Amino acid sequence: METREKFDWERGCVIPFDLFTGKADGIPMIQRRLSDLAGMFSDEAAYEKALEAGDPVVYEYHAIEIPPTDGDLSFGYSVLYPGKVGKEYWFTKGHYHEKLYTAEVYHCLKGHGMLLLEDRRGDWKTLEMKAGDIGYVPKGYAHRSVNISDSEPFVTVFAYRADAGHDYGTIKTKGFRKILLEESGQPMIADNPKGMS
Ligand SMILES: [Fe+2]
Repeated sequence: METREKFDWERGCVIPFDLFTGKADGIPMIQRRLSDLAGMFSDEAAYEKALEAGDPVVYEYHAIEIPPTDGDLSFGYSVLYPGKVGKEYWFTKGHYHEKLYTAEVYHCLKGHGMLLLEDRRGDWKTLEMKAGDIGYVPKGYAHRSVNISDSEPFVTVFAYRADAGHDYGTIKTKGFRKILLEESGQPMIADNPKGMS
C-alpha cells in the first residue's frame, strides 16, 4: 500500500475527510457558535432569545495550514448546521478576499444551501446548491453560505488561492445587502434592514 505522506505540501499529500462528519485526521475543526455571530442577524430580539436557550454550534470548518503563496491552493471542509434566528436561516459570517482578484469554488456534498454573493458595486446573486453541485464564486464577490434545509447540514468543500487572505471586517461592519428568510416554508430573499450599501 502506498505510504500516505501527511501534509507534504511540497510533494503532495492526501487528507482523508469523512464525508458524513467532516472530520479529518490531525486537522482540528474550528467551531463558530451563535455567540460568534453577534450583531449579524436581522432580528436582534430573536437572536437574544435564541442565545438564552443556549449557544449552539452554527458551523464548523477546517482551515488547513497551506503555504500562502500565489501558486498554492487552500482548501477545506465546512459543515453548516440547520437552524434559524427568527425567520432568518443560519449562515456563515461571510467575507471578501483581501486580494479581490481571487475566486473560489464550493462543492456541495450534502444538504441544500445557498451561496450569497455581492460585490462592492452593489451587484448580488444567490447560487442554490444541492449535493453534487459546484458553485463558482467569481473574483471580487463577498460570499456567505446559508443553510436553507430545516433538517440537514449543508456540507461543502471549498478551494481558493492560498494567498487570497480573508476580509471579514467589511461584512461585519456593513452586512450583506440581502438576507434569506423562511416564508411559508420557502426561502425568500429580502433586503437586509441592517445592511448599508
Ligand atoms: Fe472565500
